[in-house]
Amino acid sequence: MEPAFTYHITDKAARYEQFISDFLPYIADEHEEVSVLANTTAALRQAFGWFWIGFYIVRDGLLLLGPFQGDVACYRIRHGRGVCGTAWAEATTQVVPDVEQFPGHIACSGSSRSEIVVPLIANGDVRGVLDIDSDQLATFDETDRHYLEILCKHLCDALYQ
Ligand code: SME
Repeated sequence: MEPAFTYHITDKAARYEQFISDFLPYIADEHEEVSVLANTTAALRQAFGWFWIGFYIVRDGLLLLGPFQGDVACYRIRHGRGVCGTAWAEATTQVVPDVEQFPGHIACSGSSRSEIVVPLIANGDVRGVLDIDSDQLATFDETDRHYLEILCKHLCDALYQ
């Protein structure tokens, strides 16, 4: 038997559909934030193999590094700074095809070329962000935004309601 979240589906939307369906049981009964976010990053890595996948959590007026898969990253990001801080300040997903073109991008790794950051929003408050980096340009598009926002909605429902 193949490990969970190992797919041979090439169509991106279909892969997300399968992934979300397979992952929902993992957040049905567990509501511990660190544990659920850690498994989310592991499952996303298995399913999609991106270069860096992680969460930054709002703590004491900053984004603090949370569970992640990938290289060592910066601990704290200020409101409105970088891609993550912008997603927090604007409470909207940021799709960045070329990180060098994003003013104020924070380079935790020189290998990152494109990025998507999706805010975790519960009851109108941003509680954190999901940050995914690719070592290729223009990896993320509206399909990624659509499905990652659905995933983050499920996470918020499981963790913050
Ligand atoms: N690039 C992010 C910083 C976090 S690292 O990518 C892990 C940013 O500009 O906010």
